[in-house]
Amino acid sequence: MNLRVKALVGGALLALTVAACGGEGAGGGTEESAPPEDRTIGVSMPTQTSERWIADGDSVREQLEELGYQVDLQYAGDDIPTQSQQVDQMITQGADVLIIAAIDGTALSSQLQAAADADIPVIAYDRLIRDSENVDFYVSFDNYRVGVAQAEALLTGLGLLTADGQPGEATGPFNVELFAGSLDDNNAHFFFDGAMDTLQPFIDDGSLAVKSGQAEIEQVAILRWQQETAQRRMEDLLTSSYNDGSRVDGVLSPYDGLSRGIITALQNAGYGAAASPMSVVTGQDAEIASVKLIDDGVQNSTIFKDTRLLAEQAVAAAEAFLAGEEPEANDTETYENGVKVVPSYLLPVETVYADDIAPLLVDSGYYTAEEVAAGQTD
Ligand code: GAL
Repeated sequence: MNLRVKALVGGALLALTVAACGGEGAGGGTEESAPPEDRTIGVSMPTQTSERWIADGDSVREQLEELGYQVDLQYAGDDIPTQSQQVDQMITQGADVLIIAAIDGTALSSQLQAAADADIPVIAYDRLIRDSENVDFYVSFDNYRVGVAQAEALLTGLGLLTADGQPGEATGPFNVELFAGSLDDNNAHFFFDGAMDTLQPFIDDGSLAVKSGQAEIEQVAILRWQQETAQRRMEDLLTSSYNDGSRVDGVLSPYDGLSRGIITALQNAGYGAAASPMSVVTGQDAEIASVKLIDDGVQNSTIFKDTRLLAEQAVAAAEAFLAGEEPEANDTETYENGVKVVPSYLLPVETVYADDIAPLLVDSGYYTAEEVAAGQTD
């Protein structure tokens, strides 16, 4: 097990990594020079009900295994106690590094304390772990920018903006409804903030109206990012605010799973037929079922976050820690977790409309054209 010791030598503070045998660690030998096959990386993912986390788990595992590491990949079924238990077990079984995508960003403090006590570096994967000083690194995307991009897609879809961000021909007023992710996920707040900063001027000048009046994140959040919950909320909104013949022109949705629930509710209410076109619905993650909906002209757009690149950053960070080094950060300001600013590596994001599916998703090998046509991966 790595023992990271900070020593004050000759008046200079030197970060000195000392290799020490951690007893019954994975594979027995875990010195800094230990070969990859003697190292175990614990990878804790939230759920398999969402395609994206399956892709993330697969990418991280494949890339680590290619380098020769042992991988303990666990999914927690979106259940907080299960995730806590799985992480506890990774620690007792001698993991050398932990990569964690938390279900609830505030629920893992005691596990992280145990990891720190055992000198196991912790990398927060896509979702920041909050309220703990024992988070060593964060790999994610520019989450505020995701929200901005979602709002811009909504505005473009409504014609209030042109594709290059200039004022569009349309003037509105358009009725929109807003959705946010799970309040216990730090990202949900970044997405919503980015989106609302972009939409607010249009709400203020009257070109957008949130007809339900529900515009606070607490009113529009969907616990655990559940598709069914989003569908129910959209159905309730249609019943409560649109039973007077008015239309929902657009929906800000922060995640493809929610978008599919929202679209189902709208379709059940007759949207998407010739007489009543589908509302402009945004998304995120480029999940294959939603990519097909975009291809078919049903969903407006999604935000593509390449999970292969995110996995690559997580693996690079794990390797740096195993070599006794600090991973390379490109942001050391944004992600304050309640206790400290966590050094981060943030990746850029891309908006995907129908025309972007081939160049961005197919040509890059993320999906095949057949998978897009079928709406599912092989
Ligand atoms: C967030 C993540 C999004 C989406 C969502 C639901 O933390 O950043 O990309 O996947 O969870 O899974």
